[in-house]
Amino acid sequence: MKLGIERPQSWQVCIACGNEALETDPHPRCIRCGGLLEVKHRPPREGGAELLRRFTERRGTGGAAASSGVWRFKEIVLPSATELISHPEGNTPLLHRAALDRWTGTSGLLLKHEGHNPTGSFKDRGMTVGVTQAKRIGATAVACASTGNTSASLAAYAAQAGIPALVLVPAGNVALGKLAQSLAYGAKTLLVQGDFDDCLRLVEQASEQLGVYLLNSINPFRVEGQKTIVLEALEQLGWDPPDWIVLPAGNLGNTAAFGKALVEAKAWGLIDRLPRLAAVQAEGAAPFARSFDEGFARRHRLKAETVATAIRIGDPASYDRAVKAIRETNGIVLAVSDAEILEAKAAVDAAGVGCEPASAASVAGIRRLVAAGTIRQSDRVVAVLTGHVLKDPGALLQYHREIEPPPPGANRPIEIEPTLAAITRILDAR
Ligand code: F0G
Repeated sequence: MKLGIERPQSWQVCIACGNEALETDPHPRCIRCGGLLEVKHRPPREGGAELLRRFTERRGTGGAAASSGVWRFKEIVLPSATELISHPEGNTPLLHRAALDRWTGTSGLLLKHEGHNPTGSFKDRGMTVGVTQAKRIGATAVACASTGNTSASLAAYAAQAGIPALVLVPAGNVALGKLAQSLAYGAKTLLVQGDFDDCLRLVEQASEQLGVYLLNSINPFRVEGQKTIVLEALEQLGWDPPDWIVLPAGNLGNTAAFGKALVEAKAWGLIDRLPRLAAVQAEGAAPFARSFDEGFARRHRLKAETVATAIRIGDPASYDRAVKAIRETNGIVLAVSDAEILEAKAAVDAAGVGCEPASAASVAGIRRLVAAGTIRQSDRVVAVLTGHVLKDPGALLQYHREIEPPPPGANRPIEIEPTLAAITRILDAR
């Protein structure tokens, strides 16, 4: 189908075959070819300067649209939405810590900390839009496959909207904090005896055959919300784009969202140049990095393994969109080892910031790229920290308490008898 000449404010288009669908069409993929869908908006007539004025004006004022770091950018997210399911979310800080400049070899590295969202990860930005859309089209139930954060977020937003939620997670490979959240917020939680890629296949079948609305990041409305990570960071920089934006990459929804946000921001006159994207995968879960190394000649699917369970994904769903994002931003993709991820996490944690293992992949990636001379010391770099330090207490405690010999950043807890002498002995030993 092609929509008429007089297009609505927003519509959906298949990035593979160009088939178009109405904004309220509930199918998670193109009904003609199964390709990924993208939401398109007509740019507002007012132009870039007026839009920027509006975004700024809304900051900190009352009402859902204004107090959310997603809905403040409504014109470029989902202009027609009215009944918003918003926590609110977003408005996350852009942090600087000198210790991390030293660790990465950068000057003025900025950390966009998405762990400050209501459920502790960037997923809330996509979920407020996804669940708002679910409510709008009258979905009777919502579902997702997840490595843990999407499910935690879906559970919370579905609870707020009063829609039953079904989540599928890989049994034994979800960080404790995330699993706990999904249970707490009341989602029907299925521990699937398989990996994330199995969960995703299964939930796609369930959404087709059982009529539940799919809220994985293949859902294009999720992508619209996640664009605001970049928009908000640009706003915090006075709309003066950095040289690089570096992010961890798993299922590739966020890589796709960042590319789309940047290209639209330039086309709509919000910025005058594009930063380069650097997507960082874990070495044991790096099908996208492998394709990048081959000039995206072919798509890889593999059995994934990494300590960073959030990005333990071997067949990323948003591959096609993410290739587009990397090409359009002259971006790069790389992979770092689990040891580098854990070392980077220890550095982020010890700087008093804290993040979950997958988030630290971006910081590990920056150190690699600086060492290789790809990122210059004088470049302005934003690293996205995708999740909160408390998401994965298991990995954290193992690193500090159990690994032998203790890694350089290990901070062993010490059990003592309840006496002052015991404390003195320990202080003297330092
Ligand atoms: N960082 C964290 C903390 C994540 O939870 C995820 C993805 C990513 C990075 C990668 O983002 O998939 O858009 O490339 N988590 C998904 C989930 C898969 O189910 O929570 P991506």
